[in-house]
Amino acid sequence: MKIYAYGIRDDEKPSLKEWETAHPEVEVAFTQELLTPETAKNAAGADGVVVYQQLPYTRETLQALADQGIHQMSLRNVGIDNIDLKAAKELGFKISNVAAYSPNAIAEHAAIQLARILRRSKELDAKVAKRDLRWAPTIGREVRMQTVGVVGTGRIGRVLIQILQGFGAKIVAYDIFKNPDIDKQGLYVDSLDELYAKSDVISLHVPSVKENIHMINKDSIAKMKDGVVLVNVARGDLVDTDAVVAALDSGKVSGMVMDVYENEIGIFNEDWEGKKFPDARLDDLIDRPNVLVTPHTAFYTTKAVLEMVHQSFDAAVAIANGQETRNLVKF
Ligand SMILES: NC(=O)c1ccc[n+]([C@@H]2O[C@H](COP(=O)([O-])OP(=O)(O)OC[C@H]3O[C@@H](n4cnc5c(N)ncnc54)[C@H](O)[C@@H]3O)[C@@H](O)[C@H]2O)c1
Repeated sequence: MKIYAYGIRDDEKPSLKEWETAHPEVEVAFTQELLTPETAKNAAGADGVVVYQQLPYTRETLQALADQGIHQMSLRNVGIDNIDLKAAKELGFKISNVAAYSPNAIAEHAAIQLARILRRSKELDAKVAKRDLRWAPTIGREVRMQTVGVVGTGRIGRVLIQILQGFGAKIVAYDIFKNPDIDKQGLYVDSLDELYAKSDVISLHVPSVKENIHMINKDSIAKMKDGVVLVNVARGDLVDTDAVVAALDSGKVSGMVMDVYENEIGIFNEDWEGKKFPDARLDDLIDRPNVLVTPHTAFYTTKAVLEMVHQSFDAAVAIANGQETRNLVKF
């Protein structure tokens, strides 16, 4: 059995080595290059490919794999939106993904950034860097004094609730499908509007499906408390960024955590130092003392990377052996 992996980063290599050592029966080959119609040829002789990229998996790319007899692709990430699924179906592809690599990685990031906003640590760090060691006016707020509204109580939302309960925060939650544990704790409110009205901090943990696009907009912000803090470590397009910028300007929103951004593709995970920054709105947000921007790194921990590599290779082997895998994507 041979598995060929594309787009392998240096930080993935230790996890890959570990998997290889545990599976001597599988021949592993890999490249840093992404999967394209040209590079697909390098996988000749493999039973399956393991991939992770934002670059589209086009019909031509899938055809190039199929031409070498490869009809399976195992993603190291979750998103399948950049795959030509019609072509994949027609070419008889089996696709797996890694839906849950480490919910804690994302939930911890949300909690840490939320606490940093409340303690005004961006402002304080900048003062300390200048050797201004005065306390005032950089007074903080305590997490336990906040009502935190958690929108979406799936894998990540639930871990965030646990973490914030450790701080002593009051939680209100909303989900279109109630989770029995959260329900038992009596944390659910009946509507998003009720959550908006009650929360000092609102954290999003829902997918970017059609109905959720721009769920944070001018109208929903108007329903929130004055001085609300928004946390988005889910998907950029859940938030109408222009509406949030206006609300930051007016003070309606007192702080924003954003690990994701509507136009992040092609901007995040690049080094812009010394180059013309391509997005004036993001440039401005990065400069604001009450906005914490991270470049989609909530997931980026050693544990999550290990899970992404190990689960994708396990799934690739299972598919090649005709075995069941919970990672198989239905499309
Ligand atoms: N920043 C990162 O690095 C990163 C990494 C992984 C996942 N994410 C994102 O985090 C989000 C949550 O992921 P998850 O694994 O917890 O997903 P999940 O599927 O386990 O949970 C999502 C929950 O949202 C609920 N939901 C959907 N629409 C809703 C709505 N309009 N109102 C209320 N609830 C709604 C669903 O019923 C579900 O319970 C996703 O957007 C995912 O893309 C971000």
